[in-house]
This record gives sequence, structure tokens and C-alpha cells, in this order.
Amino acid sequence: MIEVKHLVKTYPARGGILKQKPVQAVKGVSFVLPDAGAVAFIGESGCGKTTIGRILTGLESYDSGEVLYDGVNLTRLPSAERREKLRKVQLIQQDPYAALNPSRTIAKTLMAPLALEAKRQQKSKAWMASRAREVLALVGLNPEVVLPKYPHMLSGGQRQRVVIARALTVEPDVLVADEAVSMIDVSLRLGILSLLLELRNKHGIAILFITHDVAAARYVGQDGRVCVIYQGEVVEEGVTDDLIQSPVHPYSQALLSAVPVLRGLEAPGPDRYIPLGEFQQDEGTACRFAPRCRYAEERCRTEKPRTVPYGNGGHRHRCHFPVARRVVAEPLEVNS
Ligand SMILES: Nc1ncnc2c1ncn2[C@@H]1O[C@H](COP(=O)(O)OP(=O)(O)O)[C@@H](O)[C@H]1O
Ligand SMILES: [Mg+2]
Repeated sequence: MIEVKHLVKTYPARGGILKQKPVQAVKGVSFVLPDAGAVAFIGESGCGKTTIGRILTGLESYDSGEVLYDGVNLTRLPSAERREKLRKVQLIQQDPYAALNPSRTIAKTLMAPLALEAKRQQKSKAWMASRAREVLALVGLNPEVVLPKYPHMLSGGQRQRVVIARALTVEPDVLVADEAVSMIDVSLRLGILSLLLELRNKHGIAILFITHDVAAARYVGQDGRVCVIYQGEVVEEGVTDDLIQSPVHPYSQALLSAVPVLRGLEAPGPDRYIPLGEFQQDEGTACRFAPRCRYAEERCRTEKPRTVPYGNGGHRHRCHFPVARRVVAEPLEVNS
């Protein structure tokens, strides 16, 4: 289980000709990823999703707050022990082209992490070879076909499966999938999403699914939770179906209502499309979303909302005037 409490991350100012101010990318985020659970992060580009994912996988430091892995704060451990724990949290990134070395066959790609595993577990070369076949089969690839190939000989979907197979070599407890399907051909996406779901359901691997795609979040996050992130803060959080069907924060509503209509059968309701206003810089003492919110009132511009529960299903939000507005979020078209 991973528990994140009041996580804050600031990127320092960059010098040079184009002087930039420090960027506070994550502003006090808290959430829990249970064992074998699923949490989906949804939010626009730049809201801090990748930063949180990189912090969880140990690739990025943080300023304050806590990240607990089974109750342990890894920053207090010696670095060897920390690395050992972080091995179990694997990152799957957006671009499977960049993640694979083009000059290595898939066999070689898998042998590097397997050699470490073999050393750790005192296993033989034969074990490595059979484990390579096993992880490829787990991700739905035919080992005989794929092992001798180079990355460029595979489709984007197959490449992403190889990346996932490589992550599975260490028998991870958690996969952080950061926009893991957004560079993959639409026709192959659903296969990867189903694979993630299967790894969770059959093998008990927890998934942190980072996306800007609501339909994908709903699919992978089923029986899990969704966090809607806006400018480095969780503005709404709840059980996936509950939140996606009845969001109470105007930002979540705008985000969900912007989901394209895939089937085009239903007539648009009054809240089908909630436009977002102009983007403006954060004021600090106000609701960060107020400048873009079509429902904002005076209080929203003078008082910062705190996170409070909505009902008693563990649904929480950060809005002075929450109203459940039903928006139509389309499910994924499964048979396409
Ligand atoms: N290495 C970095 N140095 C400086 N600023 C960064 C760095 N990485 C991300 N940022 C900034 O932090 C904010 C959040 O970025 P990111 O976590 O990548 O968001 P997302 O994944 O939601 O698009 C953005 O404003 C981005 O410009
Ligand atoms: Mg990102």
C-alpha cells in the first residue's frame, strides 16, 4: 500500500536568458493506493500528474509531505534499502519508442533486468530464459516471435507490451502507468488497457493510472478511485463510477463533459458541455479554479476552499458550492 500525505514539490527557478520563477508543481496532494488497488489521476496537461508519478517511483525528490510504502517512509532508509523497495514500483511511460533501446533485440532488453534478478535470487541462465518467455506470455505476446526482434519491427502496442513485460521481470507490486496509451494507435489502446486491468485482477498488481482521457480512467479505474487534479491539487476524489457519473466540482464537470461522444446516440443534455473559461494565474487566496469557473461567486475569489466530504461514500471535493451535475461520460467502445 502506498500512502501519500500532503505532498509538495517545487521545481527551482531556471536561470539563463529566459529567467523563470520556481514552479510549485504539486501543492499538498494526499491519496492512498491500496494493495492490488487502482487509482486514476485525471487532469489537464501541466497539472502535476507526471511529477507525482515520478516521485512515487523514486525518480524525483519532494519538498515536504510523506510517501509511505507499507507504512515506511523511504527517505529515512539507507539508499540500498530504498532502492530495494522502489524496485517494486515500476513506471510505464508514454513513449514505448523512447523506452526501448533500438539496437537491442527484445531478448537482450529483457535479459538485462533478468540478470539482476537471477543474481538476487541465485537462479540459473535457464531460469532467465524461461522467465523471459513467461513475462512475454503474460503481456499477450508470443515469445518465439518477439524475442529475436528489434523494437522497430514491432507495432506501438507490441512495444508497449514489451515495456510492461520488462517491468514485470521484477515482480512489481505497483505499476505507475503515465499516459501509457496516449501514443499508441487508437485501435490498439484498448488491448493495453485490458492488459493493465488483467495484471491487477489476476496478479494483484496495484495500478496508478495517469491520464487526461476520462474513458480510459473509467475503464482501468473500475472498482477503484479517481482523483481529479487541477494545478497541483486534488480538487475531487471518489469511487470511480460515482465520481465519473456525478462529479460535484465544476472543474471535474467541465473535464468530464468534454469527453467526445463516441456513439453519438444520446441527445445532448443541458450540462453535456461545460466550457472552461480563460486560463489565469493562480491568486493564492482564492479557489484556484475560480477564474475559469462559470459558477464562481464572490466567496470563491476571496476564500480558498478546503477538502471536505460529499455524502458518505468517501467522495471528497474542494469547492464552496458543490452541486451534483450529471454529465455524460461515454464508456469505451469495447468492440471497436
Ligand atoms: N524538470 C522540471 N523542471 C521545471 N519545471 C518542471 C519540470 N517538470 C515539470 N515541470 C513543471 O511542473 C508542472 C507540472 O508538470 P507535470 O508533472 O509534467 O504535469 P502533467 O504530467 O500533469 O502534464 C508544469 O508546470 C511543468 O512545466
Ligand atoms: Mg505528464
